[in-house]
Amino acid sequence: ETLDWDADAAGKGGYDHYMLKEIHEQPPALRQAISGRINELATSVDLDVDLPEAYLQSVEEIQIIACGTSYHAGLYAAELLEEHADVRVSVEIASEYTFNGGRDPWRTLVLAITQSGETADTLSALREAKRSGARTLALTNTLGSTVTREADDTVFIRAGPEIGVAATKTFVSQVATVTLLTVYLGQVRDSISTENASELLSSVRDLPGAVQQVLDQEQAIKETAQAYADSDSFFYIGRDAGHPVALESALKLKEISYDHAEGFPAGELKHGPLALVTPNTPVIALLTEQTRPEKTLNNVKEVKSRGAPVIGVSSDPATTSHVDTTFDIPQCGPMEPVVANVALQLFAYYIANEKDRSIDKPRNLAKSVTVE
Ligand code: G6P
Repeated sequence: ETLDWDADAAGKGGYDHYMLKEIHEQPPALRQAISGRINELATSVDLDVDLPEAYLQSVEEIQIIACGTSYHAGLYAAELLEEHADVRVSVEIASEYTFNGGRDPWRTLVLAITQSGETADTLSALREAKRSGARTLALTNTLGSTVTREADDTVFIRAGPEIGVAATKTFVSQVATVTLLTVYLGQVRDSISTENASELLSSVRDLPGAVQQVLDQEQAIKETAQAYADSDSFFYIGRDAGHPVALESALKLKEISYDHAEGFPAGELKHGPLALVTPNTPVIALLTEQTRPEKTLNNVKEVKSRGAPVIGVSSDPATTSHVDTTFDIPQCGPMEPVVANVALQLFAYYIANEKDRSIDKPRNLAKSVTVE
């Protein structure tokens, strides 16, 4: 007699897909990302950064290079770094990166964000930055990966292994870790107020609990996803840090459901994409705090008057009357868009599941792309 033991099913720990398991692993992954890195009074950060402080103080520009989901984490990072670290920030898709000769390599820090540490486009951009004389810092999930050997310094996001091709827990862990990096750099550069530092740090500390509250609403999000599963084109809109989250949430849906999905800065909708909005194109609006929800609500009115159904993601009950459905999320300060992203991961998952897609291994996609 043999015991039926399916390694794959065991790996999924009772979930139908790795992706769903990894969505549920986000609270512990986030706790792991911040563990031991925030001091007890939530006023300072220890990230084990080896780059000399004098150099970090002299940096005038941070160039972030990344692909896919990591690029969206980079856009989120730019919002935080520009506000709190008194530095110019550019975020470039790694495959488009060239080191501009006019930039001063001595005052430039290149931050490569890559979950796997093996993405060819990102490694090639990193090598170009090094050849040009810039210092490099990697933000990765993978110990011993190529990026850790090639960058001058590495900060780990500590999310644990991610099997699903669509990145979920690694995105939230990237954002949590770059938030810690922002506070660290802000303090080294003397550009962040104690008040802002403690607001960011308490927001990061609240993140695991806030994400858990979203996971507890899985059934309601699933029902909404099932109600919208017949649509085959979706728009996501948001401002400030809500914008990268709109992009990331749209990417998730497109990767696993094969539906058309696009994210836009909410204000840009009227400059073109609005032509595509019809009663058959649901619009998902990031109405998170600190991302100018009152302005985004104007854009919600524009799409509603074209008959589009609207899902709002918000912690503010005052927004619910402006939309058709609300994903209610807990307040979480500057990290609130990340919390919203988790609701939209579940939304994407259940739409794809309703369509019986190959969620963990979508067609044509790979977890780590090692060709340029
Ligand atoms: C692939 C994956 C994406 C990922 C991107 C960048 O395209 O399918 O999920 O975001 O690579 O990967 P990296 O490991 O560099 O973060």
